[in-house]
Amino acid sequence: MSCPGGICLEPGRRRRALILLGLMMLVFIVLSGFSFIKSRGQVTPNTVTFAAHHATDGKRVFQAYGCMGCHTIVGNGAYFAPDLTKEYQNVGPAWLAAFLPSAGSWPTEVAVLTQLQNKDIAEAAGVDNIEDYYQKYPGAKTRVERRGGQNTFMPNLRFRANEVGQLIAFLKYTSAMNTEGWPPAVKTGPLPARLERLYGRSVAPGTTAAPAPASTGQPTAAAESPAERGAQHVQTFGCTACHSPEDKKIIGPPWRGIYGSQEKLADGTTVTVDDAYIIESILKPTAKTVDGYPEGTMPTYEGLLNDEQIQEIIAYIKTL
Ligand code: HEC
Ligand code: HEC
Repeated sequence: MSCPGGICLEPGRRRRALILLGLMMLVFIVLSGFSFIKSRGQVTPNTVTFAAHHATDGKRVFQAYGCMGCHTIVGNGAYFAPDLTKEYQNVGPAWLAAFLPSAGSWPTEVAVLTQLQNKDIAEAAGVDNIEDYYQKYPGAKTRVERRGGQNTFMPNLRFRANEVGQLIAFLKYTSAMNTEGWPPAVKTGPLPARLERLYGRSVAPGTTAAPAPASTGQPTAAAESPAERGAQHVQTFGCTACHSPEDKKIIGPPWRGIYGSQEKLADGTTVTVDDAYIIESILKPTAKTVDGYPEGTMPTYEGLLNDEQIQEIIAYIKTL
């Protein structure tokens, strides 16, 4: 009996072990080859177009606007906003063309229909009337029915002429990719039932679901004073994604102690932070830009916030 490396095996068993090893290697090589065949069928961005737009350009636009700072796509990016990998397949080009340039609100049926009048879009969609469109892209139907006309929390990005088409071409490409089932289906169900399971008590619609963590100072549903309602608006409208109520610099200037203070602007002048300045900042964010911050990052809330809500936000900012 030979003992290679100190492991003693009878000659017969050694041969069997070697044959088994050889078989496993063969399986490994065949499977590796097979995976290459499959990946050869994978789409590449330079083969995908939407109207006259190329997916490769769309990829650049997608990166330039930092969409991945909020969204996930093909497994990369942030978890603040919905996954976009299969968005095109789900909602189709007409819905996207309606949503992207006016992300301030979710498209209504009329808005989708308007896009479908465009020959390029109808051609890419493969249908030219709304019923067939909804059949082919069921995600568009659910979005129109559930949220059409309502505000979104997506900032309104001001795209240049071709950029929307290019983004659609890029999303068409990621939809065509074989992602082996990614992203996984979202687990949905009646929300109250899910919350009840999570928190172990029944949650009536409209009330705060989870016990609010004390540190964020989240207001309750029954906020009474204007400042309390203001605190609620800045959560609802997503201001707190960019502005900290304390001293932390997120994307926009922090709010602690800002009311009444002198703010240095990018053009070298200073301005006193008063009601008029805050109102202008909310409705026309590009009118004045704070020194050291990017212009045009803050979306306008014109048409989203009414005068009363803005006054309540001011009341809240004063308390900081
Ligand atoms: C500051 C964060 C942010 C950035 C940057 C951003 N988004 Fe969004 N986006 C959101 C949020 C939040 C939503 C969900 C809105 C809602 O539910 O009201 C959304 C929704 C969407 C939707 C609809 C999703 C759905 O479920 O149908 C699309 C499409 C989309 N964004 C595309 C883009 C693209 C393309 C870019 C880059 C050009 C981009 N977004 C940049 C935050 C962002
Ligand atoms: C996508 C990020 C973003 C969101 C969301 C956002 N802001 Fe801003 N905000 C900024 C940036 C960046 C600036 C500084 C550049 C400028 O002045 O335009 C700014 C400036 C301001 C200023 C002037 C601050 C100062 O120090 O002079 C006010 C007031 C303000 N925002 C209020 C709001 C309110 C209220 C909301 C929600 C209704 C909001 N912002 C949502 C990014 C954002």
